Amino acid sequence: MDLPRSFTIAESGHRIHNPIDDRKLAQLGRALRLEPGTTALDLASGSGEMLCTWARDHQVTGTGVDISAAFTAKAKARAEELGVAGRVAFVHGDAAGHVADEPVDLAACIGATWIGGGTAGTVELLQRSLKPGGLMLVGECYWRLDPPDEATVKGCHAQGRDEFRSLPGLVDHFGDLGYDVVEMVLADQDGWDRYSAAQWLNIRRWLDANPGDELVGQMRTVLDQGRANYVRYQREHLGWGVFALMRR
Ligand SMILES: C[S@@+](CC[C@H](N)C(=O)[O-])C[C@H]1O[C@@H](n2cnc3c(N)ncnc32)[C@H](O)[C@@H]1O
Repeated sequence: MDLPRSFTIAESGHRIHNPIDDRKLAQLGRALRLEPGTTALDLASGSGEMLCTWARDHQVTGTGVDISAAFTAKAKARAEELGVAGRVAFVHGDAAGHVADEPVDLAACIGATWIGGGTAGTVELLQRSLKPGGLMLVGECYWRLDPPDEATVKGCHAQGRDEFRSLPGLVDHFGDLGYDVVEMVLADQDGWDRYSAAQWLNIRRWLDANPGDELVGQMRTVLDQGRANYVRYQREHLGWGVFALMRR
């Protein structure tokens, strides 16, 4: 049980595996007015940057669960580096169906809503770990611009145009699920570049250092095709944001 190696190669240098940059992640932490001692659960926590920096800046405590052994190891190392290893723990495992032993103040899934079978299922999953009145954070894609054709839909890795909603459609969807959207921080295109363009140097350096690896052909395609799709389709058409929700 692990993330395919192609992802850990492409995102080997990333601290944040999403188009929200460190500045916006800090902005989100401040916007939520987190009290010292806030307890948190982060499903699909990646390299742990959110929990680690919020433990440092807001004295949050909590657990992150991620299916990537490599990212989980990075998260633990980051916690040590920031001096917060006593406040946050990172577990390597499948977060699908994961519910906290004790209900938490803040439950998050930032950019991995497939773990609950989509937005609605992930909201339901997170709710099972939340204290009454708690905050939920969901990171999700939306169409920044309507995709004009099927090539754009495919180039954005969507199964169909219905896979994502517009921004108003997504906010309405959270409302239909019974939640108030109480805050949001949206990625901008510079943030997308930090997530997507930052993969190109990771991959190119890996290709140079590992000419005999069985993944060379695949990673060359990821670099060439991924970059073309990104500049042609994703950068213009895909939006992404973190939405803070409270149950009505
Ligand atoms: C887009 S990244 C987001 C990571 C992190 N939330 C962040 O913002 O940096 C998606 C993450 O989901 C993790 N993941 C994918 N499937 C998972 C699963 N079933 N259970 C736990 N983690 C999973 C991947 O390993 C990866 O770290």
